[in-house]
Amino acid sequence: MTASVTVDLAGRPYEVVIGRGLIEEAGTHLKPLLRRPLVSVVMDTVVAGLHGQRLLDGLRSNGISAHAITVAPGEGAKSFEGLSALCDKLLALELDRSDMIVAFGGGVVGDLAGFAAAIYKRGVDFVQVPTTLLAQVDSSVGGKTAIDTPRGKNLIGAFHQPRLVLADLAVLDTLPAREMRCGYAEVLKYGLLGDPPFFDWLEKHAADVLAREPGAMAHAVRRCVEMKAVIVGQDEREGAGRALLNLGHTFAHALEVEVGFGEGVKHGEAVGLGCAMAFRLSAKLGLCADQDAGRASAAVAAAGLPTRLCEIGGPPLAAAALLGHMIHDKKSEGGELTFILTRGVGKAFIAKGIEPAVVSDFLISEGALP
Ligand code: GLY
Repeated sequence: MTASVTVDLAGRPYEVVIGRGLIEEAGTHLKPLLRRPLVSVVMDTVVAGLHGQRLLDGLRSNGISAHAITVAPGEGAKSFEGLSALCDKLLALELDRSDMIVAFGGGVVGDLAGFAAAIYKRGVDFVQVPTTLLAQVDSSVGGKTAIDTPRGKNLIGAFHQPRLVLADLAVLDTLPAREMRCGYAEVLKYGLLGDPPFFDWLEKHAADVLAREPGAMAHAVRRCVEMKAVIVGQDEREGAGRALLNLGHTFAHALEVEVGFGEGVKHGEAVGLGCAMAFRLSAKLGLCADQDAGRASAAVAAAGLPTRLCEIGGPPLAAAALLGHMIHDKKSEGGELTFILTRGVGKAFIAKGIEPAVVSDFLISEGALP
């Protein structure tokens, strides 16, 4: 069954369509949005091999021609070099400002192609066709686009909303198990930040979602998208409420910069660990019960995701280095540390001005080197 969730942005609403077989139907969904029957599909070489032909056929069967643009797989593509190469290809194709870019892939391709769409000739329309669980429940919805720099993740980017998101659950059938777990970390994040009944449901159905049981997957993706649509509809540019979606991310981004993007730790793994740590920090500060922190950690562990720093491979992590990355995170303001902390499951809030010494002590208590 196909579901549709509206992201209700004033004057610019768009649909997130969730169902099976949407890639084959892509032409039907895209056609009303096009000024001429031509799109440029950006995908990595892995997605191109697995699903590219089906998407191109799905477009052509509706009379839509497609330029296929492939990029290298992996987080490395989300760089100035990757952006420059992609923009050059778009320019060589002589796309004009009324043309459409289709971001067909996981979070990396969505962020990269979305950012290219935001800046190509000062902005062209784009559509997200996310092929990972993580991209379907989070990164493809809400218009955040960006590239990384060696100084941090997503530091250069733009808000640029897609015209449409097509989340085809059937593509998740070929997703490697590690990528499913990474996406599931973001799924848990939604329950932990604001929906206790959903978190209860996830505690019972984690194995079904991870095993890609169609009904469980459809429910999980739809609930996350519904929550994200409400949050983004109320706060598109992260003035306040949208920041709740960063639960676990202050820790996660610091870990990713320290360990190396996509190398020892994947984004979803860092987010799962970051959520467990945010709950433990909240418990340590007396904000939430130890029992809630225990539930958060148990749910992350039940998905086979790391819950402790020592489970991340590589040399031991130093508290000072992690703290330094947090201070330089784009969410810190005037050097003030901002965390998403919580008063319990489903009760996350924005906590500004957390003392660096408090965070350092906490990181050491978590096993980081002093
Ligand atoms: N992934 C967090 C956000 O879209 O705001």
